[in-house]
Amino acid sequence: MFSKEVYIRRRATLLAKMREAGQSGLVLFLGNAEAPAQYSDNCYKWRQDSTWLYYMGLDEPLMAALLDIDSGAEVLYADDVDIDDIIWMGPQPSVASKAALCGVASTKPYASLDGDVAAALKAHRPVHYINPTRYFNTLKLMELLGCQKVKEGVSRPLTEAIISMRLIKEEEEIKALDYACQLGYEMHSIARDSIKIGIIEQEIVGKMEGVALAKGWGVSFPTILTQHGETLHNHIHDKVIEPGKLMVIDAGVESNEHYASDFTRTYPTSGKYTTKQREVYQIVYECNELAFSMAKPGVAYRDVHLATARKMLEGLSALGLVKGDLDEMVAKGIAGLFQPHGLGHNMGLDVHDMEDLGENLVGYDPDQQRAKQLGLGSLRMARRLKPGHVITDEPGIYFIPALIEKFKKEGLGYDFVNYAKLESYYDFGGIRIEDDVLITADGARRLGPKRLPASPDDVETAMAK
Ligand code: GLY
Ligand code: MN
Repeated sequence: MFSKEVYIRRRATLLAKMREAGQSGLVLFLGNAEAPAQYSDNCYKWRQDSTWLYYMGLDEPLMAALLDIDSGAEVLYADDVDIDDIIWMGPQPSVASKAALCGVASTKPYASLDGDVAAALKAHRPVHYINPTRYFNTLKLMELLGCQKVKEGVSRPLTEAIISMRLIKEEEEIKALDYACQLGYEMHSIARDSIKIGIIEQEIVGKMEGVALAKGWGVSFPTILTQHGETLHNHIHDKVIEPGKLMVIDAGVESNEHYASDFTRTYPTSGKYTTKQREVYQIVYECNELAFSMAKPGVAYRDVHLATARKMLEGLSALGLVKGDLDEMVAKGIAGLFQPHGLGHNMGLDVHDMEDLGENLVGYDPDQQRAKQLGLGSLRMARRLKPGHVITDEPGIYFIPALIEKFKKEGLGYDFVNYAKLESYYDFGGIRIEDDVLITADGARRLGPKRLPASPDDVETAMAK
């Protein structure tokens, strides 16, 4: 964890923001609890709640905190271990010493939380809480608040105050993200160097996830590695690697500090792209470069998404797969047929940072509306960029036969799409190229000490080594 001053400052800023927003009462934070896989001593891998990590830093189960907006008082609720725990877990530091690590002066047993929340509610003091991401905390909130409709009571002012802080990464966080990206670079390099005709995809997944586990907490999301890249999130790794295919590898490392990286590269399994693959790859590569060149403070990432959609249509037009006025095609959402996802998302303590707090609250400025169109409607980060934002730049082109057939059947895009020619791409797969980008005072930089090879020539050179 960071030094206690970081957490003290963050909590003080949060409470000040709540007061500025005219709020009073208590902020309630719930850390995660262990989640049993079958029985209580065999749990899923432990992962703390990210908002808890941001404000409290303590990476242990069954902790809660109440922060008093009016007085500034702070209490950490957690239990000291007893002899039964010591037998199984060994001696543990006291709760008081853990509280000192994050600069909280007062501690109470976890069970005291119930009475303290009840007393606040009885005194008609607001208790602000965020959307619970785990069922345990949903049930805990139902118990604490004495109500079933926990989601309806989520505090919008608290959610907005947290988002405003976590969106702008601090110096310590940028260092942690750079490191997560360094690990991501190592993981992807091993993956690329392991591609070999005849082996099973899973073998590469094992090697790359080994890096994540040996040097960090593990993967930042389930690894996507597939010769069927047209399936956007393909987690099935049971295929034998065949010559002449494209392999999408979309994966990241979560560092021990729990910061994420998220990179995607698309490799020719034979080490060289075919002409057809290279033509499409080049378009995606140029979209990725265009997005990076446009990313700077003041520019809405929604506009960057639309500019890359236009560039993509321009390239597809040159290949004869679409035809017509580019701006009209962008307006009509034709790019969504080829890229049904958004250009990128926020990244930080979560790979899709804070999306548990509400995708639109996190990714959209108050005056921006989320579109309904395929592709643009999936854009998770549309905001006007600010220094300290960390976002992904991940354009892709996919030939999804079922989607193309659906468009065709419903008579969509007939004026623009060359459906006859598209049929020869039904076994093409998909291509995505993803980098992680920090918005700086006057532009942007890609996170991590080195960029994974991205241009078609650089990929082929790296694969030849
Ligand atoms: N890299 C996976 C995703 O962004 O959804
Ligand atoms: Mn991503």
